[in-house]
Formats: sequence, C-alpha cells, structure tokens
Amino acid sequence: MIFLKKVNIGNSNIVASNIGLGLMRSPEHSDQEVADLLDTAYEAGIDFFDNADVYTNGEAEKRFGAALKKSSLTRDNIVIQTKVGIVSDGNENIRYDFSKQHILEAVNGSLQRMGLDYVDILLLHRPDPLLEPEEIAEAFKTLQNEGKVRRFGVSNFNPMQVQLVQQALDTKLIANQLQLSLMHTGMINFGMHTNMTDPASLNHDGSILEFSRLKNMTIQAWSPYQYGFFDGTFIDNAKFPTLNEVLHKMARKYDTNKNAVAAAWILRIPGSMQVIAGTMNAKRLKQIAEADKVKLTAQEWYDLYFAAGNDLP
Ligand SMILES: NC(=O)c1ccc[n+]([C@@H]2O[C@H](COP(=O)([O-])OP(=O)(O)OC[C@H]3O[C@@H](n4cnc5c(N)ncnc54)[C@H](OP(=O)(O)O)[C@@H]3O)[C@@H](O)[C@H]2O)c1
Repeated sequence: MIFLKKVNIGNSNIVASNIGLGLMRSPEHSDQEVADLLDTAYEAGIDFFDNADVYTNGEAEKRFGAALKKSSLTRDNIVIQTKVGIVSDGNENIRYDFSKQHILEAVNGSLQRMGLDYVDILLLHRPDPLLEPEEIAEAFKTLQNEGKVRRFGVSNFNPMQVQLVQQALDTKLIANQLQLSLMHTGMINFGMHTNMTDPASLNHDGSILEFSRLKNMTIQAWSPYQYGFFDGTFIDNAKFPTLNEVLHKMARKYDTNKNAVAAAWILRIPGSMQVIAGTMNAKRLKQIAEADKVKLTAQEWYDLYFAAGNDLP
C-alpha cells in the first residue's frame, strides 16, 4: 500500500513524492542492485531521484543511468534532479565553479552519464564566493531553451546567496537542499533562541527555514538519518538512547518503524519539505516510505526534538 504524499517543488508544476532517494552512495553497488532499488522505491511511492556530478566523480550518475535502463521505471513518470558546481581535479584540489562555461559543460556531462535528454531540476551544489549571477542566468537560459533542464534550485545556500542569484534570473528558484535531521537542527534551534546568548542561538544559516517558506522554496533535507557530517546514523545507535526510546514509542503508536518516524519529524515542519534518503537497502527504504503513516501531534514533534538533546530557552 502506498502512503506517500506528493508535493509541488517550490512554485513549479513538478510534482514528486515527499521522500526522495539520493544516489550518492550508489557506486558501492552494482547496476542490477541499484535497478532493483529503483523498482522498490517506485513501488513504495518514491518517484524523486537526487544525484550530483561530483558524487564519486560521475560514477553515481553513471550507475543511476545504467540502473534506470535495467529497471521498469519510465522516464516521464519520475523526477530526476542533479547538481553542478563542485569541481575536483581528481586529487586533493577541490573548488566551486559557477561560470557559464562550466555549468553548460557539466550539465552535458551529467546528461551523457545518465543517458538522459533532460533533467527535471538542476541545483547549484554549494555557494561559490566567486559566482557571477548574470553568468548563471545566461547558463540557465541556455539550458532551458535547449530543453535540457526544466527548473533550477540551490543547495547549502543562505537567504542572501539565494537572493543574489535570484535577482538575475527570469525563472524562480524552486528548492534549497540543506542538511536537516533530528540530529541536525541548527535552522530550528536558532529560531527558538533568538536574542539569547547560548550556543543554540547562533545563526548559522541566516534564517533559511523561514526564508524558504516566505519564498515558496522546497527544503530538501539531506542526510536525514546522519548525525554530524557523515558521522553515522543515529537510528539504533547506542550513543542516542533517549532519542531511540522516543522514536520506538512513536513507531509503536503509529504501527510503523523508527526510520518512518524520523522522516515524519522532518515532514511535519510547515512549508514545503522533502526528505532525501540515502539508503541503498531495500528493506530500509520501504520502512522510510511509511513516513506518512505517522501523524505527529505538536507535542510529539517537540518530544522528539527534546529527546534529540535540545531544549527551549
Ligand atoms: N546537497 C548536499 O550537499 C548533499 C550532501 C550529502 C548528501 N546529499 C544527498 O542526500 C542524500 C542522502 O544522504 P545520506 O546518504 O547521507 O543520507 P542518510 O539517509 O541520512 O544516510 C544513509 C546512510 O546511512 C546508513 N544507515 C544505517 N542505518 C540506517 C538507518 N536505520 N536508516 C537509514 N540509513 C541508515 C545507510 O546504509 P544502508 O545503505 O545500508 O541503509 C546509508 O549508508 C545523498 O544520496 C545525496 O543525494 C546532498
């Protein structure tokens, strides 16, 4: 049975499941394994797939393209998103590049690797201090005119950075992909600790939560099960006994599992929210896809927030 809700991404007519599958970790698996996972995802109601040119130097896009062909998915029934802007010479040197030439070349490379004519959404991966909004605008216009990209968004951008790019565009940015999980809640903590002096009051992101809602941009939560920066998952982790206890209690109440509750916690935040899960395990993906079974009350949402180690002023 499919429970997943669909969301419009930003103000666009691109409609997709509120849970997406991220392919960053797919290179560790075979084409057939990823094809099977795509089929599992689609059967569970997930029709949104996230990628980036930089993931294992293009391997994640190649794996997705090959897996898509082996799967039973139809291109027009799914939403495919990729990202551009992080460049690496294959050694230690890494930088960001939003020049027109780089964006155009990178998208051609992404399409070729995935075997696609177009992607639905292209995100600027991480803000580049050297970016020129007008160059980005020219690149976006070319890509849209050529039918290679339907709509655009950003990732890891603060509100000023979004506005800096947006003012040069004649298309509205529709999404911002940001790290957000029960164990990564800076954008929420700050809002509740305004004008205090404790660590939670630090404004790390310029009120991106409220800004995204005001501007009708979908927040795509990356690493929804990780704590720290890829330090591991908090689910069933002995380091987080209280959180796991409360997740377990809610999972029992809603006749589901902890993964679904942790995703539902993100989706309960008002505005347009999407969860980008990175599991390559079919059983876990089906568990996550039960998120819409969970209808958290406001008190339950706060109970989970407190169980994750947060407090109120
Ligand atoms: N925009 C950005 O800067 C940015 C940065 C990072 C990621 N992303 C996107 O976000 C996606 C998700 O990131 P992520 O992979 O770090 O997310 P995640 O869903 O939080 O983590 C998935 C990883 O945790 C493991 N895991 C272990 N126990 C788990 C459990 N109980 N529930 C769920 N996962 C468990 C998974 O292993 P199994 O495979 O064995 O389940 C997998 O290795 C990426 O694929 C990428 O598309 C974007």
